[in-house]
Amino acid sequence: MNVVAISGASGAILGIRLLEELRGEAYLIISKNAEKIIEYETGYSVDEVKRMAKRVYNNDDLSADIASGTTKFDSLIIAPCSTTTLSKIACGIGDNLITRVASIALKERRKLIIVPRETPLSPVVLKRMYELSSMGALILPPEPAFYLKPKKIEDVVNYIVGKILDHLGVEHELYSPYEP
Ligand SMILES: Cc1cc2nc3c(=O)[nH]c(=O)nc-3n(C[C@H](O)[C@H](O)[C@H](O)COP(=O)(O)O)c2cc1C
Repeated sequence: MNVVAISGASGAILGIRLLEELRGEAYLIISKNAEKIIEYETGYSVDEVKRMAKRVYNNDDLSADIASGTTKFDSLIIAPCSTTTLSKIACGIGDNLITRVASIALKERRKLIIVPRETPLSPVVLKRMYELSSMGALILPPEPAFYLKPKKIEDVVNYIVGKILDHLGVEHELYSPYEP
């Protein structure tokens, strides 16, 4: 099972498109600020987003089953990931369900895909990203592939979600490969 987490960074649509592509077969955690950003940035309500998941967890619920390493999940994808959540994970802080599940992914050597959104990046965050990458997490910034000549934001979103699905081993047709 894939766990999708939407934290309080800009780009909530990335997590939403990912949920759509996983077709109801994902668990979902949304942070408090992410709920506000979903309503502010996207045409979706938080309830609509929650209905896209097989199961929804409260980010404050540190006694949820997935807060334990004994509960099996295949991967955690944090899309988008705030620099706060990213930095906490790198430091081993598990003070909410998203950061706790991330710490489990690291200790149990499960897949951890982090889609950080911020610009510019401070030395603090760059250092934390490097540390997480060295620990086995995949840092996948939501940057457009300009050479694919995206025409609209949906093209960029599909490309990024396609890259996430590539790493999950899920077939998709969200972007066409580069053709010289
Ligand atoms: C509209 C809005 C956009 C934000 N965008 C970002 C962002 O792109 N990157 C980021 O690191 N934080 C961003 N923040 C700040 C985070 O939401 C804030 O640091 C929060 O504490 C992150 O906690 P969370 O990861 O638990 O949601 C944004 C906040 C708001 C209200």
